[in-house]
Amino acid sequence: MRAQIQKAPAQLLEVLKKKSVGLQHCKPTSSVCVLDSKDAAPCPEHTFQSMPGPKNWPLLGNLIDILRRGGLEKQHQTVMDYHKKFGKIYRMKTGSFESVNIGAPCLLEALYRKEGNYPQRLEIKPWKAYRDMRDEAYGLLILEGKDWQRVRSTFQQKFMKPTEVVKLDGKINEVLADFLNRIGDVRVNGKINDLYFELNKWSFETICYVLYDKRFGILQENANEEATDFITAIKTMMNMFGKMMVTPVSLHKSLNTKTWQDHTAAWDRIFNIAKIYIDKKLKRHSSGETDGFLSDIYHNCPLTKKEMYAAITELQIGGVETTANSALWAIFNLSRNPHAQDKLLKEIKEVVPPGQVPCAEHIKNMPYLKACLKESMRLSPSIPFTSRTLDRDTVLGEYSLPKGTVLMINTQALGSNEEYFDNGKQFIPERWLEKKTSINPFAHVPFGIGKRMCIGRRLAELQIQLALCWLVRDYKIIATDYEPVEAIHTGTLVPNRELPVGFIRR
Ligand code: HEM
Repeated sequence: MRAQIQKAPAQLLEVLKKKSVGLQHCKPTSSVCVLDSKDAAPCPEHTFQSMPGPKNWPLLGNLIDILRRGGLEKQHQTVMDYHKKFGKIYRMKTGSFESVNIGAPCLLEALYRKEGNYPQRLEIKPWKAYRDMRDEAYGLLILEGKDWQRVRSTFQQKFMKPTEVVKLDGKINEVLADFLNRIGDVRVNGKINDLYFELNKWSFETICYVLYDKRFGILQENANEEATDFITAIKTMMNMFGKMMVTPVSLHKSLNTKTWQDHTAAWDRIFNIAKIYIDKKLKRHSSGETDGFLSDIYHNCPLTKKEMYAAITELQIGGVETTANSALWAIFNLSRNPHAQDKLLKEIKEVVPPGQVPCAEHIKNMPYLKACLKESMRLSPSIPFTSRTLDRDTVLGEYSLPKGTVLMINTQALGSNEEYFDNGKQFIPERWLEKKTSINPFAHVPFGIGKRMCIGRRLAELQIQLALCWLVRDYKIIATDYEPVEAIHTGTLVPNRELPVGFIRR
């Protein structure tokens, strides 16, 4: 535990040192959080059953209400509306899926303090059903208990240690050089057709280079078909599994629904492609190639081959869509905030000498760049919620929650709450740079929290920061219209239309 706390961000540690974090004792949940002592008891009249929440109809729960409010694609918005109505903590049942939703930093902090050795996320039954059917192993995204810890510790040092991750800037830049060329080639009147897909290719190329030490060349004109297939398969799989989270997966499987078939076909594609590249890398290793980011792991792997396939495949999945998505929203937010973009350009010019390639060393001296990314991820998080399944009875706020309760941590609800962020709807990177910032670090958790926090966080941040340096230095990113752009939920939050952005060469 101590080791984990030492790895927590400095700001977070500061809060933990100062506060005795405990319960939000018998206070209305919609008001300011009150953190009492650790030993406070739950409020006797606040039982799990008495928790507020949307009407729970037999069998359907609040499914009709979700559908009425725009369906699963708008569930992130519905969840935020519910927080406004029911407060910081509420209970909800959508079809067969029951959860307790939390949207307050104090509750998140209390949860973090109570975290056990093996925090669990919500069981992703469709993924497990596929793996069991095909006799494949589980990776970090779905493993639990000691097995999760064993696999996590295999990759932890490489991915979470800043001194290891900064070594990747050369590889990241190599891909970025191709990405910038690609942008130059496909730009027509300043516009890029399907910018999101281009960014997906960029993040795919980068994560593969990191994992397999191999360039796919997906950003070249005659792109490798396998790579584009992989990206499309991830999108299909993400779309399909969401539907099976609120209706029993066993039913889909036994009726062999279209959703189940598409989900299976997408996973087959993902595993087939990933295995080809893992096998090639292992072969190169056995014939003496020992360099590369993960060489120690390939060389002396404590995991079985089956476990390795699952772990690396999931790292690859984790790294493609999310990174592309966060970069996309950052580009959008800069296009709508020219003043912030000008400030960012000024910082880039001051820190990166003309003719030099921006690198990890430069980023250390670029607080405004970091603030721009943080602010973009607050305003437009890629993943609007993560989850925890309680492994024991737990008191949270004034409620006693039974073992097995699924907690939804609503990142977007936290980040868009005016109670925690003044002028929360505006893009203000400066808020992160104020000397005495009053921002509670538990109000901004786009990569999750605690021991199960995103393992690719540092890589993703470095990748996007460098990408913004390259892009903003070469191009003025402009808004081509100011009509609203809404986010829809398809596993990640994606824009509801092609982004109205243009790239004008500086
Ligand atoms: C901006 C980009 C990214 C975002 C927004 C993001 C977000 C997240 C979030 C919210 C979680 C859940 C954390 C929790 O439950 O506390 C997570 C987990 C995870 N992410 Fe990321 N991620 C990003 C990039 C990456 C990259 C580049 C990789 C691969 C290197 C990756 C691999 C994973 C894995 C394997 C997990 C599961 C970790 C575990 O349970 O031990 N992610 N990510």
